[in-house]
Amino acid sequence: MAKKNQTLGEFIIENQASFKYTSGELSRLINSIRLAAKVVNHEVNKAGLVDIIGAAGETNIQGEDQQKLDVYANDKFIQTLTNRNIVCGIASEEEDDFIVVNSQDENHQNKYVVLIDPLDGSSNIDVNVSVGTIFSIYRRVTPVGTPVSKEDFLQKGSEQVAAGYVVYGTSTMLVYTTGDGVNGFTLNPAIGTFYLSHPNMEFPEDGKIYSVNEGNYIHFPIGVKKYIKYCQEEEGDRPYTSRYIGSLVSDFHRNMIKGGIYMYPKSSKNSNGKLRLLYECNPMAFLAEQANGKASDGFNRIMDVQPTELHQRIPFFCGSKNMVEKAEEFMKENS
Ligand code: AHG
Ligand code: MN
Ligand code: MN
Repeated sequence: MAKKNQTLGEFIIENQASFKYTSGELSRLINSIRLAAKVVNHEVNKAGLVDIIGAAGETNIQGEDQQKLDVYANDKFIQTLTNRNIVCGIASEEEDDFIVVNSQDENHQNKYVVLIDPLDGSSNIDVNVSVGTIFSIYRRVTPVGTPVSKEDFLQKGSEQVAAGYVVYGTSTMLVYTTGDGVNGFTLNPAIGTFYLSHPNMEFPEDGKIYSVNEGNYIHFPIGVKKYIKYCQEEEGDRPYTSRYIGSLVSDFHRNMIKGGIYMYPKSSKNSNGKLRLLYECNPMAFLAEQANGKASDGFNRIMDVQPTELHQRIPFFCGSKNMVEKAEEFMKENS
């Protein structure tokens, strides 16, 4: 049972037994993500000092090369997961192909693969606005003892065993699910410990916030245009409020707490929208469903989509159940 103020470390140990595979491997994996999140958090917090210590691509005062934060975050998560020999494979938004992890695991005994968006909302870094990390965890489908292959990564979202995100906001939070609800932990930066601050997070069934890049309005499908107009109409509890940060993690986090819908539809420019099914949509969909919300491509459940490509994109509608269902109604009526 989630107890407020428990540390994330305590929570992981206490909840290990309730997970159906109890080898401890998944707990070690989440512990590694916790560690990498703290390292990346430290670097993200220093991003504003970039003018003083040197910009990306330059050499800093210590003679070290400065890295772009998305590359840095990618390296840190991959290093942490490979060095500790916990997973058998990693796929990342920042890598062309998946990585077979066998540095110390030459017999390929590890059972989990991780998919990550190491730095989400990267265009917000330069302007001191919240960014995030998204992760998604599956059990491999190919036999233990062999190297991982693409099919281990191309699983439906419904097969996820865990998923979560880190939001580097005014506070840094790690929010995750192992299929038994969603819990949020806030980092106390003074001592580097995450504490359970948001047990059993849930989307309100109805919300009053819609989040979409309305600059693309002209290119949106007619169903989306009509739904946006519906959000803006004066009737009942409408008009709704428009809020768009431009980093999915932060927009999702706010909408989960306050009630709202996030949309990245297809457009006449991008026929599948922008967001990545494996690194962004599936993990957020798993969290949404575990938090009493909903995630759809406008017509069907995101987690039922059979992926065909690692970097596949898909339209995304996610958030409070009744809002997502209303948007789907408009999509279906106008398709
Ligand atoms: P990333 O930084 O990982 O590439 O992801 C950015 C994504 C998502 O976080 C955000 O909601 C969306 O792109 C914003 O896109 P627009 O600027 O097109 O609105
Ligand atoms: Mn992203
Ligand atoms: Mn990214």
